[in-house]
Amino acid sequence: MKLLVCCLLAITCCVLANVDKVEKSMKLTEVIKELRELNKSVEHNGMMLNTPTLDIEECCFLSALECFQTMVPQLKARQKKIQQKVVRNLKSKLLRSVVSCNREEGKNKACQGCDSYPLKDSREFVKQLESLLQKVTGYYE
Ligand SMILES: *[C@@H]1O[C@H](CO)[C@@H](O)[C@H](O)[C@H]1NC(C)=O
Repeated sequence: MKLLVCCLLAITCCVLANVDKVEKSMKLTEVIKELRELNKSVEHNGMMLNTPTLDIEECCFLSALECFQTMVPQLKARQKKIQQKVVRNLKSKLLRSVVSCNREEGKNKACQGCDSYPLKDSREFVKQLESLLQKVTGYYE
């Protein structure tokens, strides 16, 4: 009897862990898709934005994501709706949990401030944001 309960628990855990994984990876795919749609509606007019680079520590990905999120509203987009959607998704708990690092020692690490990232034009900015999301998606494959 005990063994059976144990088995059931193990299976439930396994299934739940996978649901979580699938949910996160779907969210990432969704945001990347929205970002591409947003990109199509952006007037790339040479506007310069602080753009996090990806050669940063994994534990700074969340801080980089926050920087992207504060910059996205500055893009000159024809479709405000998709722009708001992207911002909302970048802020979402699920995405934040995906990007934040699990290593204890890295948690309190000082990350670069948004202002200190290099200025890149809007095209490069979108590309870098997509790269960050893709890099994180790689963890779930
Ligand atoms: C964004 O759109 C521009 C054209 O407007 C294109 O050159 C660029 O590759 C697109 N970037 C991404 C990440 O899709």
